[in-house]
Amino acid sequence: MAQTDGSDTNQELAVPAEARAEGVAKILIPERDLKHEVQVIARELDEEYRDDRPLMIGVLKGAVAFMTDVMKAMTIPVEIDFMAISSYGTSTQSSGVVRILKDLGQDIEGRRLIIIEDIVDSGLTLQYLLDLLKRRNPKDIRVVALLKKHKVDAATVQVDRVAFEIPDEFVVGYGLDYAETYRNLPYVAVLDPSVYSEPEED
Ligand code: IMP
Repeated sequence: MAQTDGSDTNQELAVPAEARAEGVAKILIPERDLKHEVQVIARELDEEYRDDRPLMIGVLKGAVAFMTDVMKAMTIPVEIDFMAISSYGTSTQSSGVVRILKDLGQDIEGRRLIIIEDIVDSGLTLQYLLDLLKRRNPKDIRVVALLKKHKVDAATVQVDRVAFEIPDEFVVGYGLDYAETYRNLPYVAVLDPSVYSEPEED
């Protein structure tokens, strides 16, 4: 697992002056590091599933950027599907109470699954998803997450591979959003808190 301490000493980490980056305070994981880790993970998956045809399941919408990059970097045949779930909570904190908005389009009994997650925060969303999929009797499930937050109170949930461990901060970019914005940033960034803090009442 690659480590990042979020330090901002490199000139390359300066936030570009462009409209999609408005409100971004600092770049936590630059595009170059994401590309490198995607290649490493793709090689690992190639090796693990060399004699199989895994089904890669992307959790919409946050996992889309990561999943498409990983699947393109893989050299073995891989099938894909998506699930969309919405977790109730505030805009920056999930509650673990989950509703399925889009289910898989196929039977997964006996299949080898690779779940691609954008970020494991409390772990509650992933736990719900794993419980649901396990009841459908797949052969096995591997969880690959782009990000995992350092959290003392996080649930103990199965995550087999994490691309980057990050500090417990709200992040956006490379698929992750705040209020449906910032998903198309090519890097992972920390927002200026003024973007999501409530406006002062008069
Ligand atoms: P959990 O249930 O607390 O692990 O939250 C998981 C989901 O909440 C992720 O799949 C994201 O959609 C969302 N989420 C959690 N932390 C962040 C963040 O820092 N930025 C953007 N979305 C986040």
